[in-house]
Amino acid sequence: MMRETNQVQAAQDTGAAGTAAADGSFGIVQISDLHFQDSPGTRGFISHEPDEGLAAVLADAGQAIAGASLVVATGDLADTGEPGAYERMGAVLDTLPVPVYCLAGNHDRQDELQACLPRPNVHLESAVRVGNWLMLFLDSNAHGREADGDGTYRDRDDRVHAAAQPGLTPAEEARARGVLAATGAEHVFVWLHQPPLLRTAPDVDSYRGLAALVRDFPAIRAIGAGHLHGDLSGEFEGRPVYVCPSTYYSIDHTNGSLDGPGYRTYTLHPDGRVDTEVRTVPGGITEGMRRARLPRHLAELLAGRITGDEIEALSDAEFEERFGEPRAIRRS
Ligand SMILES: [Fe+2]
Ligand SMILES: [Fe+2]
Repeated sequence: MMRETNQVQAAQDTGAAGTAAADGSFGIVQISDLHFQDSPGTRGFISHEPDEGLAAVLADAGQAIAGASLVVATGDLADTGEPGAYERMGAVLDTLPVPVYCLAGNHDRQDELQACLPRPNVHLESAVRVGNWLMLFLDSNAHGREADGDGTYRDRDDRVHAAAQPGLTPAEEARARGVLAATGAEHVFVWLHQPPLLRTAPDVDSYRGLAALVRDFPAIRAIGAGHLHGDLSGEFEGRPVYVCPSTYYSIDHTNGSLDGPGYRTYTLHPDGRVDTEVRTVPGGITEGMRRARLPRHLAELLAGRITGDEIEALSDAEFEERFGEPRAIRRS
């Protein structure tokens, strides 16, 4: 489904409070990788709950959200896709003063997400028009999906690892092409979960459809993503790619160390320019994460010495022998 509105119409549709500046620019706050669990509880090396990380971000971003036209949540909303995770985060996001547009990450489960998350102010739309911009939300989890005989898709059991790289199903690419061909918007911002950067997508075949899409539609100005839990940016097919920190815990990819919850703010201009900044929340949660040690399995994963699939295939005993520490255990 596609929605085409301007800001005034969006406000009427959803109760949004966002307004454009006199020059036609507007703001977006991006949150990502909430990793909510079925019930509250801490996990492994992280001493705060996902709910606490999101609350810290929303408190710090309150003014930016109030002045924005929309909030975008770019996937890994739930850690293992349980209904309770979507129910609890939906209740929180529904209280925000502007509409929230969500998309799925490799950790999400599509059926549970669709059944439990949407609220009057929390949407799973595939596109929305704001001013002379189109926000195009892509499901880039093709490698974690498989088609049934009747052509519908369902999650593979190994979706979390299988969809670690971005990919579009033929149906999703066709849907995106239809939206892009029909829109009257001058500029397009593409949102997806796994950023099309070498760090995430060393296998070029995995995002060939996305590359063709971006090449074929010059109105695409920029790409926003999550998945890497950090302040990163790069380029794909000549377009800037911006990666958002996680509201749960982030990684300082420069130093290979842990960091606190964060978010991205954007200003989109009517001439197609994009300004963006990352902010990490101040306070005890971030200080605690900066004092914590990056677990060895994550350090090796980031360094490319092991893949997520290889980590997953290890027994608990093999994991402990390889990394010198046990697998993360949930504490509720
Ligand atoms: Fe994530
Ligand atoms: Fe992810």
